[in-house]
Amino acid sequence: RSNAVVTAIGSYVPERVLTNGDLEKLVDTSDEWIVQRTGIKERRIAADNQFASDLSIAAVDDMIRRYGVTVEDVDYIIVATSTPDTVFPSVASRVQAHYGMKDCGAADMQAACAGFTAAIQLASGLLLSGAHRKVLVIGAETLSKITDYTDRTTCILFGDGAGAVLMETAADGQGDLLAAYARTDGDRGHLLYRCALSPAIGEHGILTNGYIVQNGREVYRWAISEVAEGINALLDRGGLSPSEVDWFIPHSANMRIIEALCERTGIALDRALSSIKHFGNTSAASIPLAIDEAVKAGSVRPGQLMLLYGFGGGLTQAGVILRW
Ligand code: ACO
Repeated sequence: RSNAVVTAIGSYVPERVLTNGDLEKLVDTSDEWIVQRTGIKERRIAADNQFASDLSIAAVDDMIRRYGVTVEDVDYIIVATSTPDTVFPSVASRVQAHYGMKDCGAADMQAACAGFTAAIQLASGLLLSGAHRKVLVIGAETLSKITDYTDRTTCILFGDGAGAVLMETAADGQGDLLAAYARTDGDRGHLLYRCALSPAIGEHGILTNGYIVQNGREVYRWAISEVAEGINALLDRGGLSPSEVDWFIPHSANMRIIEALCERTGIALDRALSSIKHFGNTSAASIPLAIDEAVKAGSVRPGQLMLLYGFGGGLTQAGVILRW
């Protein structure tokens, strides 16, 4: 039996820091309000000439430097992003061009804040089917470029960053993908969107200004109810009790949501990893950013059971339980 295993991880955030104090000068808000409602202190902002592919390549370079891995023989690249440099070519194609992989597939995947975990699910499928042997999975976002900095209900939330993992086929006994779960509530797509071409979602007319638009209260309600149900369903599929999970890595939407998810699933809060405090909500990048911080701190170690759970625009969710 072969397995899909993560063999290396890297990450990158842009240098520019946008603090809550900086936001106080842009909109009518306060550090206290933001910290109390979201747990965010600051976020990183990409330079004008920095796009998702630049952040992706910087994250892969970090991974190569730290793990000594090679990527020239990668045979598939999946980039999860809602902010590609261009709709096509994909960010994945730009990454392929940079490293010059031969005989390599490349595709972007768009599942908003569930993008990274959805990409892990697809990558595992490619590896477990035997179709591919070495897959690069990246979550990269420049959300600052689609954020309206006059809208205090959204601009306090979002930040930029990227994380990358290498997934490979492993011999029996190494690594393990224990379970996967996905769920979509597409009838609530209008609660969180960025318009591209169509001016409507179902029967709901939507704003066409190109910025992220959300109904924060409704998204919050969905996150603490349906997403909690999804995590419980994933635990059931893996045959695990909440206390058997070494690390719980939910999408870093905000700290209050993470606390509520822990309460409703029985996973201890001190088992939850997040990248929310210093990086804000980085959508598809938030989960690898959180894991990599813990890897660098030495808290995440090989052999541990990790529950990764993305959720967001769609509204959609994707989760996996894997052995690190
Ligand atoms: N600073 C100060 N006051 C604010 C701000 C701000 N930045 N934003 C809103 N307010 C005001 C509102 O105008 C409102 O005032 P009112 O009562 O006079 O009308 C009051 O604060 C409360 O507003 P709510 O929208 O009810 O605030 P809430 O407690 O719901 O917090 C938040 C807002 C943080 C967005 C919350 O709804 C939330 O966490 N939603 C989840 C959405 C989310 O995380 N989205 C990210 C993308 S989706 C994802 O990643 C899953």
